[in-house]
Amino acid sequence: MKKITVNTETPYSVLIGTGLLVRSGELISEVLPSGKAAIFADDTVYRLYGSVVENSLRAAGKETHAFVFPHGESSKRAKYYLEGLDFLAANGFDRTDAVVALGGGVTGDLAGFIASTYLRGIAYVQVPTTLLAQVDSSVGGKTGIDLDAGKNLAGTFWQPRLVIADIGTLSTLPAEERDNGIGELVKYAVLDGGEMYSLMSEGLDGREERAVALAVDSKRRIVEADEKEGGIRRLLNLGHTVAHAIEKLSDYTVGHGKAVATGMAYVARASRKYFGLSDDEYEAVAALLKKYSAEEYAPYGVKELSMAATVDKKTAGGFINLVVIGGIGNCRTEKIALNELEEYLS
Ligand SMILES: NC(=O)c1ccc[n+]([C@@H]2O[C@H](COP(=O)([O-])OP(=O)(O)OC[C@H]3O[C@@H](n4cnc5c(N)ncnc54)[C@H](O)[C@@H]3O)[C@@H](O)[C@H]2O)c1
Ligand SMILES: [Zn+2]
Repeated sequence: MKKITVNTETPYSVLIGTGLLVRSGELISEVLPSGKAAIFADDTVYRLYGSVVENSLRAAGKETHAFVFPHGESSKRAKYYLEGLDFLAANGFDRTDAVVALGGGVTGDLAGFIASTYLRGIAYVQVPTTLLAQVDSSVGGKTGIDLDAGKNLAGTFWQPRLVIADIGTLSTLPAEERDNGIGELVKYAVLDGGEMYSLMSEGLDGREERAVALAVDSKRRIVEADEKEGGIRRLLNLGHTVAHAIEKLSDYTVGHGKAVATGMAYVARASRKYFGLSDDEYEAVAALLKKYSAEEYAPYGVKELSMAATVDKKTAGGFINLVVIGGIGNCRTEKIALNELEEYLS
């Protein structure tokens, strides 16, 4: 088991390994010795892993309650947020008790938001079961729900007290969900270079544990330097400006990983043209992207993409912070006028 400590205002550990779910009760009790636990999980994850976590928590002496909701992004909404809060209140949860978010990013964001606002904030533990949640959403303390007007529009920064990433859970993950995590891993490969880049260039199979550890460590460094996303944390948005536009235009039928990989392809081209990415390194980035997304997803024109990317950003002073690639392991943000984005992406 690998342990990475995230030194935010209240430091916490990220445990990465196999066979951790059966030990989750003991691991959680070490950090949160008293109080009961509310397991939040979607129906799919609860069916697969609910009882192992429940049994482990009970064996460690914890009273458990389970709040189960339908799987999918549409559960990251006010309805389940309010139901979750009521569930905690109805079961007499107080500030000595904790929430356990067992599942993917939807569960982590929803349960984290509930934990951060119930009684003005109670402890929560992330037990990520998707590759995306293990390498991205479970670390860093961003929580939230979607509103009618858009994704993640209500939320908080609320750090977990512990993250338990059991690599074994990835064995049941459907291929398209795995691809979402891979999109983020490719992002870390370009952001960090080094071992992460070689690992992803050579091939991930069988080395998920190492890749998750490297990605978590990368996110740790960025989150420690910028807990509330005022500056350097924006680097994690590499490829995401265009990705969000593609997701929006496709009505969220294109997966996040594929959208991010495509977004990175646009950024790589713009970076070669305008931001000093050398031809050799451009080819290397393009080859890496090709390895993981057989074909680029680009049925939209540049105008359409730029409009979708900037339509909700009019309030940010007419600029966006585009993450550009100066080289592998050398990305930075560039402030770009909204009306120039189309030109950069062309
Ligand atoms: N907070 C952050 O920093 C952050 C970062 C990135 C993304 N996110 C959010 O994360 C969400 C996406 O997360 P996600 O991709 O994990 O989605 P998800 O939570 O919906 O999980 C995807 C699907 O996989 C299923 N599943 C989960 N684990 C499984 C397993 N081990 N075996 C089989 N099936 C399993 C789930 O039931 C679900 O249907 C989005 O809402 C996004 O906004 C948050
Ligand atoms: Zn992402």
